[in-house]
Amino acid sequence: MTSGTVSSLFFLLLSFSPALAQQQAQFNQVLNLNGDMQLNSFQFQDGSKVETFSQKQQQLIVNQQTPSISANQVTGSTGSPFIALQQTSMVISTNGAKDLVGGQIEMAMTQQGLQQANVQPDNAYVAMLSPDRQTWMIQESIRSINNTDMTVRMVKLQNLDGEYMMVGRQTQGTETQLTTFGNDQASQVTVTGTGLQENEFTDGFRMSVKATQPMTMNVNVKKGIDSGMLAALQGQKSVNDYRYSVTTNLAGVQPNLNQQVTVIQMPLNAQRIASMMQAAGVQPDGQVTLGVAQRSVLGNPGGATANLGSTGAAPQKRGRYDVRTAIERRTGQQTGQQQGTPTTGNNPVATQLLLAPTFTPVQANVVLDTVNMRVAFPVSQVDGEYILTMQAGGAAAPQGAAPEPAGGAQPPAAAEPSGAAPAGEAPKPEGSAKPEAGNGTAPAEPKMKRQDAPKDTNPAKGQVIITMREIQRMAEMQKWGGQAPITKMMSEYVQANNGTAKA
Ligand SMILES: *[C@@H]1O[C@H](CO)[C@@H](O)[C@H](O)[C@H]1NC(C)=O
Ligand SMILES: *[C@@H]1O[C@H](CO)[C@@H](O)[C@H](O)[C@H]1NC(C)=O
Ligand SMILES: *[C@@H]1O[C@H](CO)[C@@H](O)[C@H](O)[C@H]1NC(C)=O
Repeated sequence: MTSGTVSSLFFLLLSFSPALAQQQAQFNQVLNLNGDMQLNSFQFQDGSKVETFSQKQQQLIVNQQTPSISANQVTGSTGSPFIALQQTSMVISTNGAKDLVGGQIEMAMTQQGLQQANVQPDNAYVAMLSPDRQTWMIQESIRSINNTDMTVRMVKLQNLDGEYMMVGRQTQGTETQLTTFGNDQASQVTVTGTGLQENEFTDGFRMSVKATQPMTMNVNVKKGIDSGMLAALQGQKSVNDYRYSVTTNLAGVQPNLNQQVTVIQMPLNAQRIASMMQAAGVQPDGQVTLGVAQRSVLGNPGGATANLGSTGAAPQKRGRYDVRTAIERRTGQQTGQQQGTPTTGNNPVATQLLLAPTFTPVQANVVLDTVNMRVAFPVSQVDGEYILTMQAGGAAAPQGAAPEPAGGAQPPAAAEPSGAAPAGEAPKPEGSAKPEAGNGTAPAEPKMKRQDAPKDTNPAKGQVIITMREIQRMAEMQKWGGQAPITKMMSEYVQANNGTAKA
């Protein structure tokens, strides 16, 4: 009798143990992850929570620390600016856990904190420090918000090691925030000149800007490409029948005034490219080279010169580092009112830029992003026009100096895209606590070495190789909304089973 009661009580306890799995946990304490695929749930005193299933027994330690970098260095969202919603960041370390399932990091928002930060609950994110420790990465697709208990989570993680912080986006709207193409004030983007700022435009054209001084920027699309504009591209064709046109208020005045790096991401239309490849006779196992080309700014058409003294920026003799700090100091005073305020005040705005007559290949490494269907490339001088090009065969173009535009109008220092080595290099974080970043000397060698076309030929700078199979897979994904073709799979399955769903 008694033993029966005890054992059934025991059984009751055992069977309830998953519900009791939530554990009050301390920071800086070794926590055990069971390897039984039972939920591990650790609740910390600041309201944050770490949860995961695990295929293996592991240990976990969670710490709080001063964030490694400031919250104005954010990548992965479509709007800006960002602000920290916490004083501290959370660092999670495991003993090399690669076997986690459904990992989640949850952070608690407070009404007061959000109000002070001027952030709506739907614009809160858990961000993760990038592998190079230079940006907070946001992944919209693995974010989850609960407005009832005021928590925000990063979900679906397979490992947890890293540094995390809750950040808020100070935009009016929530979700995807796109900027429209255009040259008018309404479609103008204000770059504050500190941190890393990202903007995405109507079709997914995306700019990640690290600028050393405030500026405004417009991106427009222009119909048509004259064959003359392609004269310097050695047989590369333009994929589209339009150009992206980027205009800032700085370049028309003094192109290399703004020491900046921008990564541009240009959308790929997989269906269009697949048709072009077919039309060019590319075989099913063949490949082509995709390239990016720029028509850069030739100089200041209006003859205006920047009145630098009055903007507080440094005289020419100063090094880059000094200029940056001077500018940061100055813009630091303006933060909080960047919306709609004129940026540099006294710089005359060039409304019409004089561009090089021809497009030349961007001299930097290009990264092919087949998930988001874009190509990404860095430039140091953003002003000008951009196109995506294609060349059948996938053979590497001759390395070395890009052909200069005929006509002899050799732009002086403005010809940034060709041979601008630092463009390929991630800039040092300014004012951040990264130790190796404090060096004011500008290193020359580009660090971005990623090769996304592991084929027999190495593409030249400004190019990537893409195979027919890859582009067809992308086109198929695009047709089915970027997911597995669910209903098609169902129909095919039923059909294969003579009209019944039985296997
Ligand atoms: C959101 O929070 C409430 C209150 O804690 C909870 O009842 C609800 O299940 C949560 N929703 C989700 C989707 O987790
Ligand atoms: C700065 O960089 C130069 C060149 O790479 C190097 O020689 C020097 O030691 C560096 N200084 C510091 C403080 O890191
Ligand atoms: C479907 O029907 C055909 C012809 O009647 C038959 O040979 C086949 O085995 C059937 N397949 C299944 C999965 O029942």
